[in-house]
Amino acid sequence: MGLKKFLDLGKQPIANGFLYEDDKSSEYFFNLGVAFDGDTKLVTQTEYVDGDLMFNDDYVYRGSMSKTMRDHFYSLSNYLKLAYPESKVLEIGSNDGVFIKNFNPKNTVAVEPCGNFAKETQELGYNTYSEFWTQILADKINMEHGKQDIIFSANCICHIPDLDQTFKAVESLLSKNGVFIFEDPSLAEVINNNSYDQIYDEHPHIFSVIALDNLLRRNGLQITRVENLSVHGGSNRIFAKRIGSKIDKTVEQNKAYERILGLDDLDTFKRFAVKVEQSKDALVRLLTNCKKQDKKVIAYGATSKSTTVFNYCGIGPDLIECITDTTPEKQGKLSPGMHIPVVAPGNEIDRSVDYAYLGAWNFISEIKDKEQEFINRGGKFISHVPVVKFI
Ligand code: TMP
Repeated sequence: MGLKKFLDLGKQPIANGFLYEDDKSSEYFFNLGVAFDGDTKLVTQTEYVDGDLMFNDDYVYRGSMSKTMRDHFYSLSNYLKLAYPESKVLEIGSNDGVFIKNFNPKNTVAVEPCGNFAKETQELGYNTYSEFWTQILADKINMEHGKQDIIFSANCICHIPDLDQTFKAVESLLSKNGVFIFEDPSLAEVINNNSYDQIYDEHPHIFSVIALDNLLRRNGLQITRVENLSVHGGSNRIFAKRIGSKIDKTVEQNKAYERILGLDDLDTFKRFAVKVEQSKDALVRLLTNCKKQDKKVIAYGATSKSTTVFNYCGIGPDLIECITDTTPEKQGKLSPGMHIPVVAPGNEIDRSVDYAYLGAWNFISEIKDKEQEFINRGGKFISHVPVVKFI
């Protein structure tokens, strides 16, 4: 059956490519098309962006910017230390160290191609390789540190175009009973929430359990357990081991649920594409009405997800005045493609703001807790997830 395209999200920039005024003329764009692979059931992009254009020394996404994610990795680390004591841990995509910092540097290895973040964990004493994850790197780590008992990766495996190479390299570096644990946004949740904004350059694939098991199995691994997580708008934590290992009931439960949702069927994605188009029309209509009523609308969270939404829907500074974000590396710059100014929070979610579009809708509880004053004086959030509405 091969690859069948079902969605076109149009011309898109590098999702985390926040830029200065002077860099506008050299901004990079690509066409964001999404397809279903009838053989593996993988949802994947029709064109992959070169890794160096996204993950380099100017990378701006910091995993530790939300309390939700800091807490999430802290409790996972505690669980892993208890469940797999004395293990050697390798993390693929260690970012600013939000996960690995919970472990003793002595027994850990980190991999992070973005030099700015690799340097941060190196300075704390971690063995961080500032390279992309490849078989060559896995062989080098094997030589220098030996086999690894836990290979962990969060929001990174779905960033890598070549999954066969990725999984083969993992399999080659795992110790005999080692476990590969990785978490990424769940395709089931994307379909349930119409959260098409999970699709951007850094997410060449959106994973179902069905597709992942097909891909892992052809590389010597199989899924042994699946945990459904609420983070990042709904993610799955996948536990995989060598073929022949014991499999728990969560694997078949998740696959059965995904079959009910139709994640193994192209028609499901064709219906999703229609809903995405409707979501775009509704969001543009709502923001245009706000503008007509002279309301001040900003966005909350300069996320990569909002890059997809703003560029796909054609939403620029005429509809959204500015975006607030806590990340120092994004502040004072323009959002990719649509060039909405990014500012530090505190100054903008002030008394003059009527509505705030939630770019970081996945952190809604944390944000609501922080912004009680805005809510109490009648300020409203806007989201497109799962349908366009005021909150
Ligand atoms: P993410 O959804 O891709 O993790 O990105 C979340 C972005 O939102 C990140 O740039 C940090 C920012 N953010 C805020 O500005 N304020 C907040 O309260 C939270 C939770 C996140």
